[in-house]
Amino acid sequence: MRIVLLGAPGAGKGTQCKQIVDKYGLLHLSSGDILRQERAAGSELGKKAQSYMDSGGLVPDEIIVEMMASAISNAPEAGFVLDGFPRTVNQAGELDASLAEAGSSIDVILNLEVDDSVIVKRITGRRSCPKCGAVYHIENMKPKTAGKCDADGTELIQRPDDTEEVVANRLKNYHQQTRPVVDYYKANNTVYKLDANKDADEVKVLMFDILDSLISA
Ligand code: AP5
Repeated sequence: MRIVLLGAPGAGKGTQCKQIVDKYGLLHLSSGDILRQERAAGSELGKKAQSYMDSGGLVPDEIIVEMMASAISNAPEAGFVLDGFPRTVNQAGELDASLAEAGSSIDVILNLEVDDSVIVKRITGRRSCPKCGAVYHIENMKPKTAGKCDADGTELIQRPDDTEEVVANRLKNYHQQTRPVVDYYKANNTVYKLDANKDADEVKVLMFDILDSLISA
């Protein structure tokens, strides 16, 4: 199964991808996580992406498309779930073209819908583990011990682009450049809309209902 999970910054894409991976055994391909790994490794790609990410802008399409095509080419037979990609209509077209060349296509598009008013609180309260990537929230999804990762005890960090000022720019770019991707997909596919203002467990149940019904169809 090949899934695209769409949604604004802080909609819960990473949180729900983890659930999909645990249940369906797909590969989680997050463009944001891959970029952060490249930055941590000090690669050329990471250096090129740095200023765009820190200001809340989008990294140029040509960099992202190549990076994600390479990641997708290593995906297992079971499939993958894309998180944060595609983020422009051009990226979506490039993705479709490269999958078609390999004789495949996206099977499911899920769109997490969240009110802008909820997003700032979610993002500024997010804390993540720099070692394993686990994501928490200081109010909604607290770790068992404050400031420490449940899985490995590592000190949790706040992403540098998770400040109120940068979030405002990320949201502006989402509405201008990424929201049109929903309409791109709607033209030829069913886009499953999920109310992601709800509690994360409720969103998971809604999402699993959709995926299970598609698998058994
Ligand atoms: P990226 O890492 O993709 O960031 P994003 O899309 O802004 O998404 P987030 O990771 O902020 O949020 P999420 O939806 O995964 O939410 P999460 O589950 O963590 O991209 C970062 C940057 O990289 C971009 O700004 C850009 O510069 C660049 N980039 C990446 N991809 C690119 C591309 N394709 N093209 C160009 N540039 C690209 O949840 C957020 C918080 O809320 C957490 O604390 C979580 O615990 C909590 N939470 C989650 N769900 C719920 C819920 N239902 N109820 C309550 N709390 C919840």
